[in-house]
Amino acid sequence: MDLPRWWIGVLVFSFLANFSSAENVIVPGATWTDTSGNVIQAHGGGFLKVGSTFFWFGEDKSSNDLFFHAVSCYSSTDLINWSRQNNALTPISGTMISSSNIVERPKVLFNKKNSEFVMWFHSDVSGYKSAMVGVATAKSPCGPYTYKGSWKPLGKDSRDMGLFQDAAQTSYLLYASDNNQNFKIARLDADYHNVTTVVATLSGSTLEAPGIIKRNNAYFLFASHTTGFAPNPNKWFQSEFVSGTWSAQSDLATPALNTFFSQNAFDMPLGSNGIYMGDRWRSTLLGSSRYMWLPIDFSSGKPKLVQADVWSVNIGAGTFSVAKGTTFEAESGTLAGGAKLLTDSGFSAGKGVGFLGKGGTVTINNVQGNGAGQWVALYYANGDSTWRSATVSVNGGSTVTVDQPNTGSGHVILSVPVKLNLRSGANSITIASNQNTFAGDLDKITVYTQG
Ligand SMILES: *[C@@H]1O[C@H](CO)[C@@H](O)[C@H](O)[C@H]1NC(C)=O
Ligand SMILES: *[C@@H]1O[C@H](CO)[C@@H](O)[C@H](O)[C@H]1NC(C)=O
Repeated sequence: MDLPRWWIGVLVFSFLANFSSAENVIVPGATWTDTSGNVIQAHGGGFLKVGSTFFWFGEDKSSNDLFFHAVSCYSSTDLINWSRQNNALTPISGTMISSSNIVERPKVLFNKKNSEFVMWFHSDVSGYKSAMVGVATAKSPCGPYTYKGSWKPLGKDSRDMGLFQDAAQTSYLLYASDNNQNFKIARLDADYHNVTTVVATLSGSTLEAPGIIKRNNAYFLFASHTTGFAPNPNKWFQSEFVSGTWSAQSDLATPALNTFFSQNAFDMPLGSNGIYMGDRWRSTLLGSSRYMWLPIDFSSGKPKLVQADVWSVNIGAGTFSVAKGTTFEAESGTLAGGAKLLTDSGFSAGKGVGFLGKGGTVTINNVQGNGAGQWVALYYANGDSTWRSATVSVNGGSTVTVDQPNTGSGHVILSVPVKLNLRSGANSITIASNQNTFAGDLDKITVYTQG
């Protein structure tokens, strides 16, 4: 078939246009969609690599309630493009996994001996009084899984839990036990169908939501404290053996940041570093909870979360790269309405802009764009106990609304991402026009070339 040259141009253009919305970067806290364009519902997730494919299991919270609707299963080869597969586990009435029960934090291991995928999850009743684990098995990664039962491991509570597979296929259940007071690690049997014995207890540690990364013959345990859906400063512990002795707790990030408003769900090795895979829970609208994945930098020998608005992984090389953007201070913008200059040591350069909304706006001028969608991070403080939001408009165009979780205090700054279409050349970005509530106090914005 002979196509005129211009027609080939059209084909190439439409191919590019089709894929222009696909991401190449990880943007923590953004609304992540799957390859069909649906919001990814895989909260409290677990990950398993099979060959070169990653599988992501999680809680489908699209009904915005606590009850069990499905353990979803997604697959990806790049940790960025996720396609939804069949549900791995769905409710069975009259059992501990009915649609009025709780199924949380699904984690899957592959059992080599039986050539079987084994899923463990927190299995409970409404009110979380049962505190059990549930186990289900399948012959393929996404199953569907066959439910085997729910019970208290060795007769004791298990709530928020994780799994860890060590060398030689020895695996462990990591769990909040004894009414969330004692954190325990128990060895699994050879089939991964049950636990055999508790190998470590961190007494009185009130930890949950655990994960382990092994690095240079040392084990690093990551866990949050127990504050429900509210975030807290997540911790890490080190030990020569899974059975301990585990070091005293250390912070994964500056404690006031409350782990960038997130809770650990899974920790994945990446070369000599790692990836923290957390949930930014939104308790009032659970299905709109977001994923907060951040690099874990081990370059000092100790793990530290890297603040990253936009970043990428090279899975083959086992490396990560954090994008650098261009920063514009809020106080350098044009204030209008009731917007006020604020002075606080929490802000970069000690200044920010408050009273945004209800007529108050700030416009940041001369933002150079590249003529496409670009990620922009809003750095803000929200000292309320509930979320705020900010409207953003480019060159006087229509507004998009960005959610702003509470930051714990007016002195603590977090960032939230928004994708904006900037024209090539100079743009003006206005925060809080057409907004009848107060937005967070704005410290600065950082504009990335990636979109
Ligand atoms: C995701 O898929 C899109 C479309 O196939 C592709 O352009 C993009 O490079 C992929 N991202 C990564 C990180 O491979
Ligand atoms: C798990 O192991 C415990 C202790 O050995 C045992 O009492 C219990 O029945 C087992 N549960 C299942 C479901 O196999």
